[in-house]
Amino acid sequence: MDTEFWLERWRWREIGWHLDEINTHLQEHWPKLGLTPGTLVFVPLCGKTLDLIWLVSQGFRVIGVEISEIAVEEIFREHGLTPRITETLPFRRYQIDELTVLCGDFFDLTSEHLHDVGAVFDRASLIALPPELRSRYASQMNRLFPGGLDTLLVTLSYDQGQMTGPPFSVQSAEVEHLFSETYRIETLASFDALAESPQFRQRGLTALSEQVYRLAPLARSA
Ligand SMILES: C[S@@+](CC[C@H](N)C(=O)[O-])C[C@H]1O[C@@H](n2cnc3c(N)ncnc32)[C@H](O)[C@@H]1O
Repeated sequence: MDTEFWLERWRWREIGWHLDEINTHLQEHWPKLGLTPGTLVFVPLCGKTLDLIWLVSQGFRVIGVEISEIAVEEIFREHGLTPRITETLPFRRYQIDELTVLCGDFFDLTSEHLHDVGAVFDRASLIALPPELRSRYASQMNRLFPGGLDTLLVTLSYDQGQMTGPPFSVQSAEVEHLFSETYRIETLASFDALAESPQFRQRGLTALSEQVYRLAPLARSA
């Protein structure tokens, strides 16, 4: 699965993952991270999620990365915001007040792009990627943030034999495998998500659960 797949999804408006409301897990669990207002929060593979705006409304600075220019432009347009746009190759940078979005490929990011980031919110990013890219995703995160950062991670798990992704199933064992060298992993919530996901039931799923994890850097507790 390459970035062209996602660009096509945006072109054809096949964006079923997008929520017209703020993610309830974010609102419920984000305060548990105990972050200082003003912390810069990284939102990888951000789409046009309203969560960016919510985080800013809570006093955080936010930086997202998203491959689709359609998505990035809609974030700002739908909130009546006119960002300053600058070319910082290989990214186009959109910025207004406390919100920055880099339009480009997550895998092209370097630590210079994310200077000063202090926390991460991942909803539907890790699970957007097939297995081989999930390993690359975790390696890239470890490279970008050596030692780790406070992270809220929202995933889905189901029988991968019943449906092809995305979204892909990510079991807790995989979260452990990908992140346990750097993080202490705590499951904050896990619940049945099938009833609220009829589209996945139609695609063949008989069970679906959603997990919310808190990832806390091991280095801090050492
Ligand atoms: C399943 S959506 C989730 C979006 C968002 N996190 C949300 O909760 O609405 C995944 C997003 O990642 C973007 N994406 C996929 N691969 C990417 C990459 N390599 N770099 C940047 N964005 C990417 C897609 O365009 C899509 O908007």
